[in-house]
Amino acid sequence: MQPPSACPCRGCIPWQGILLAVSLLTFWNPHPTDQLTIEPVPFDAAEGTDVLLLVHNASQNAIGYNWFKGNTADNRHQIISYMVSTQLTTPGSAFSGREKIYSNGSLLIQNVTQNDTGFYAVQTITANLRVELATGEFRVHGLVAQPSLRATNTEPHSVAMTCLSGDPGISITWIFNSQTLQLTDRMQLSPDHRTLIIDPVRQEDAGEYQCEASNPASSTRSDRYRLAVICEWPPSHPVLLSYISTVKGHHMAPAMSLG
Ligand SMILES: *[C@@H]1O[C@H](CO)[C@@H](O)[C@H](O)[C@H]1NC(C)=O
Ligand SMILES: *[C@@H]1O[C@H](CO)[C@@H](O)[C@H](O)[C@H]1NC(C)=O
Ligand SMILES: *[C@@H]1O[C@H](CO)[C@@H](O)[C@H](O)[C@H]1NC(C)=O
Ligand SMILES: *[C@@H]1O[C@H](CO)[C@@H](O)[C@H](O)[C@H]1NC(C)=O
Repeated sequence: MQPPSACPCRGCIPWQGILLAVSLLTFWNPHPTDQLTIEPVPFDAAEGTDVLLLVHNASQNAIGYNWFKGNTADNRHQIISYMVSTQLTTPGSAFSGREKIYSNGSLLIQNVTQNDTGFYAVQTITANLRVELATGEFRVHGLVAQPSLRATNTEPHSVAMTCLSGDPGISITWIFNSQTLQLTDRMQLSPDHRTLIIDPVRQEDAGEYQCEASNPASSTRSDRYRLAVICEWPPSHPVLLSYISTVKGHHMAPAMSLG
């Protein structure tokens, strides 16, 4: 009886040996930190800016680079290929005319749109036909529209300010005299940070307020609004007047007295 190892498929063994050698060549790496990687600069880009996809740790003897949109080396989504020896670049079907490849393999994408958001893959080929693939990703965000600030003092001792913005997915911060507002226990922010209530208002709250809308790539501040807090004298008869006006001096709300 034959041992199980001496099976009729003995002829396959050299082939398996080649496959094993190929996979060792492709995947065995004596320095795991030297792995080919893509670093997007920046990861969060504003529409209309440029993104550089840096290729790190490419083999010293790379003879060519292929760039693809998506996370696989799919020829249908090839952006550009580059031959190091001839410095010849060949655009692919995903080439938009805004891409530029450098001799070190890094890819510059100019004037990005939100459609450029997503994965990119680079394939390097070495002289001994070793192929390596790395993927990277970046996001493109629209420019944030300027928010507007509305303020009311429905009660003489309190002020409510609201930051109006139609942009979805933005975060709001409050600015006081050009610095990030330090919240005190008299201040209350709505959960979405769009409304700031100061109750009661004190003299130290007087100053210029702005709200800032931001996404991961850009931010814009509203116009400045000046909050004036007027305290009457003598203190035996306390009156707290607060009114809100723009820097230009337009009254936003009438002065009110607390008797
Ligand atoms: C490239 O390899 C070096 C080691 O040679 C390692 O320190 C570095 O982190 C790698 N860089 C990247 C961006 O992967
Ligand atoms: C590659 O070349 C570009 C353009 O010259 C440069 O900005 C970049 O720093 C270089 N280095 C790497 C690691 O891509
Ligand atoms: C950038 O792209 C936009 C369309 O997405 C185009 O209107 C604009 O002219 C481009 N700007 C430059 C500097 O190429
Ligand atoms: C973005 O992609 C959509 C769908 O693929 C397309 O309709 C639109 O024209 C593209 N916009 C730009 C600016 O390329």
